[in-house]
This record gives sequence, C-alpha cells and structure tokens, in this order.
Amino acid sequence: AQLNSLARAAGLEYFGTAIGGGQTGDSQYMSIASDTDEFGQLVPENGQKWESVQPNQGQFNYDSGDIVPNVAARNGQILRCHTLTWHSQLPRWVSSRSWSREELQSVIEVHIANVVGHYKGKCYHWDVVNEAAEEDGGWRGSVFYNTLGTDFLPISFNAAKAADPDAGLWYNDYNLEYNQEKTERALEIVQIFQDAGAPIDGVGFQGHLIVGTTPTRDQLADTLRRFTALGVDVAYTELDIRHASMPPSDQALATQGDDYANVVGSCLDVEDCVGVTVWGYTDKYSWVPGTFPGSGAALLWDENFNKKPAYTSVSSVL
Ligand code: XIL
Repeated sequence: AQLNSLARAAGLEYFGTAIGGGQTGDSQYMSIASDTDEFGQLVPENGQKWESVQPNQGQFNYDSGDIVPNVAARNGQILRCHTLTWHSQLPRWVSSRSWSREELQSVIEVHIANVVGHYKGKCYHWDVVNEAAEEDGGWRGSVFYNTLGTDFLPISFNAAKAADPDAGLWYNDYNLEYNQEKTERALEIVQIFQDAGAPIDGVGFQGHLIVGTTPTRDQLADTLRRFTALGVDVAYTELDIRHASMPPSDQALATQGDDYANVVGSCLDVEDCVGVTVWGYTDKYSWVPGTFPGSGAALLWDENFNKKPAYTSVSSVL
C-alpha cells in the first residue's frame, strides 16, 4: 500500500498533494498524482488565487482554477480549495488603493460569493483566510487588516458559508509549528472567529519546514492539540521540508526522513488532525528553490521521480 492507503488505514482522512496547473502536461507527473493509492486529495498550487480568478474587478476567470479540480473529480480525489482572503498574489486593483470599510467588505463578499459559488459542492475544505499573522505575532498589515481590522476574518468566513454551506472552512498559516508568538496569535484568531459566531472548522498548518530544525513529534502534537482543544480540526496543508544547503548529503537525506516522520506522526497522534498534504511531491517541481535561494530538495520524490529516503520514512510511520 502507498501513502494515501496507509494514511487512511492509520485513521487519517487523506494523504494529498498540491499540483501546479502548468504541470498537467507532464504525463509521468500526472500518473503518480492521479494514483489514489498514493494521493487521496489534491489542491491547486496557484489556480484559485485572487490574481488568477479575478484579475480585474468584476472579471472572473476560472480557466486555470478549474484544472486541478477537474483532475480530482476525474480521479475521485478529495479537493482542498486554496485560497480566498490573502495579502499575496492579490491583484493591485485590490491591494493598492484605499477603500472605505463598506467598499472593501463588499469587494471581499463579491469575490467569495463568486469563487466559492463557482466551486460549490466540490471543495471539501476551503482555506478561507491565509496568513493573517506576522512572524512576531503581530497582525499582518494587509489591505484587509488595515481597512477592516479583524472584522475581515468573520466577513470572509460568513461569505464562504453563505456560498457553500457544506464546505469545511479553514484558517491557514505557516510557522505555527514552532509554538511561539505566531502560534499564540493564531489561537487568538480562532477565538475571534468563535466569538463572532463565524463558522471556522479547521486550522491548516502549512508546514514549510527546514531539515534539522523541525520540532519533535511530541512538540508538534502538543502544538496541534492547543488548537483542537478549541474545537477545531487541524491538518498539515502545505508540507515541505527543505535542505538549507544543497546538494544534501546522505546524512541530510536521512534527517529529512526523520523530520517528515515526526510531522506525519504528530498528525496521527492528534485525534482531530484529519490529513497531510505535501506542497508538491517531486523536486522536479517545487516553489522552494525559487523562493529560498540555495535551498531545495524539499519533497518526497527526487527530480527524476525516484522515491527518496523521506518517502520510506513517511510510509513506515503511517
Ligand atoms: C506558492 C506557490 O507554490 C508558488 O508557485 C507561487 O509562486 C507562490 O505561492 N503559502 C501558501 C501558498 O499559502 O499558496 C504558497 O504557494 C506558498 C506559501
């Protein structure tokens, strides 16, 4: 049995991967991504983001957004949808002008009604709000926060609920895994939703981690449990564990395997951790080298589609 089958047998709902829309022409890539023994869930890496689906005000386009959802539907895979209210990959027509509160609330509501409406019935989870916290635990100074304060959080979730009552609605962020100031802020964000009566179902831990500095399985599980204690589900939504120096030694590849096993193991240890999604599965296609220069080889398969030691570690922990 492969990753998704093992994950399901171990009590998770899925083991999944992100797919970039530009990679669907690579048949070797697509045959592994479509193997439901390996991946029970897909998420589009970019296609559903604001700049892609509403590049100009009132002009909605789902050409790239639909690519991965169609693959998932064909294969019978769970679809996670990503993402609605986010400061990044946000077109300038939204980010670079000043709005009144009423205007920006309406911009958010129109966007979410259209996008969530377009995918109604297809998204098992929506990452409704992405990355509202800063590294030091402060609020990220996005146009959304700067104009609406924390009201943009319930505004977004209520709009998503209205457009697709059956989708699970998630808050998603990175560097929550280290259980420091940013984690405190994310816990507060969950409480803001709950106090406002907004329908939050889960918190996504992106899991963009670094080989050798990944917390232990117990530390990770303790952090996840701080969230599930508030009554929300958790998942790893964008897992990749990068080598900070390239190329990795054999020792570093083994450490990467241990780190992956700790992350996946921590999800198994926490009752309401529902699944693990890797942010791509092969080093042939990964955002890591372009975003963190000098780093790389963060995924489970190498660039030639050979399974790495990390693959074996994940499959043994499951
Ligand atoms: C990244 C994609 O992988 C890249 O292709 C793109 O250029 C930038 O965005 N957090 C998120 C993801 O929520 O949407 C980001 O994806 C990675 C960080």
